[in-house]
Amino acid sequence: MTAAQWMACCELQRVEALALLREVAGLSHATLLAHPDALLGADVAARLQEAALRLHAGEPLAYVLGWREFFGLRFAVSPAVLVPRPETELLVEFALQRIAPQGRARILDLGTGSGAIALAVAHERAHAEVWAVDASEDALAVAAQNARALLPPHRAGGALRLLAGDWFAALPPHPPRFDIILSNPPYVAKGDVHLEMLQHEPQLALVGAAGGDGLADIRRIVAAAPAHLAEGGWLAMEHGYDQAQAVRAMLCAAGLTAVGTQPDLAGIPRMTFGQRPVEGR
Ligand SMILES: C[S@@+](CC[C@H](N)C(=O)[O-])C[C@H]1O[C@@H](n2cnc3c(N)ncnc32)[C@H](O)[C@@H]1O
Repeated sequence: MTAAQWMACCELQRVEALALLREVAGLSHATLLAHPDALLGADVAARLQEAALRLHAGEPLAYVLGWREFFGLRFAVSPAVLVPRPETELLVEFALQRIAPQGRARILDLGTGSGAIALAVAHERAHAEVWAVDASEDALAVAAQNARALLPPHRAGGALRLLAGDWFAALPPHPPRFDIILSNPPYVAKGDVHLEMLQHEPQLALVGAAGGDGLADIRRIVAAAPAHLAEGGWLAMEHGYDQAQAVRAMLCAAGLTAVGTQPDLAGIPRMTFGQRPVEGR
C-alpha cells in the first residue's frame, strides 16, 4: 500500500493522518507531497492501522503519539496526565511577564500533571526556583521524565522540586513564600456533558476528588494561597468558561487585590489572577 492510498482509506482527519505518517512511518508532509506513492512496509502499515483504531475509539492524538507540544516544547504524555491545552499557555505568559529574563523568583505550580506549566517557566527563566505539586504519583513520574528531557541536568535535579500530595499540604513544613502561584486545577463539574468527550483523560485532572460544582478545588486553593504568597506575590488560575466571576469574587474575599481576568485566543474568559498586597502600602 502507498502512503496516499492509506491516507485515502484511513477515515481519519487529514491532520491526524499526517501526524501518524510522520510519527509511525517517518514520512514528513513535504516527503508525502513529493512522493505520495511511497510504499509502506507491512509492519509500518500494521502500526498505522493500530494507531488509527485507537483514534477511531476516541483516544486523543497526543496519547497515541505519546507527546504534545506546549509553549514550543515537546512534552511526553500518557493517560496518567491531562493533555496540555494551548489556553494554559496564558499562565506561563503571565509568569514570564512578571519575572525578568535573568530574574530570581520562586514559583509554585499546583496540579502540575505533565509538568507543562512548571517546566515551560523553568525553561524560559534559568534562575527561577520552581516547585510543582500533584496528587498523582503517576503524573509526577511523567513530569520528572519531562524535566530530565527539557531542563539541563543540574536544574532537573535541583531548582525544580516535584512534590506529591494534596495542594499546599504537599509542601514541606515551614515552606518558603512564593512570588507566583500558578494552577490549572480540576474545574469541570461532576456530571458535566463535556466529560463524555474527555473520558480518556484522568478524572482526577478534570473533576478532582471533591467533585461538585467544579469550583471546589479552586475554592480550596484560593483560601490557602495568601498564606503562601510573598508580599506583592501573584496567584493566577485557569478556570472554566463560565467561572470567571465566581473566581474573581473568591480572590477578592481572600484579600487579594489587582484582581482581573484574561481571555484566551478564542475570547473566552479563561485565567483569573490577583495579588497579595504589600503590607503598609
Ligand atoms: C487540569 S490538570 C492540569 C495539568 C497540567 N498543569 C496542565 O495544565 O496540563 C489538574 C492536575 O491537578 C492534579 N490534582 C487534582 N487534585 C489535586 C489535589 N487535591 N492536589 C494536588 N493535585 C491535584 C491532577 O492530578 C492533575 O494533574
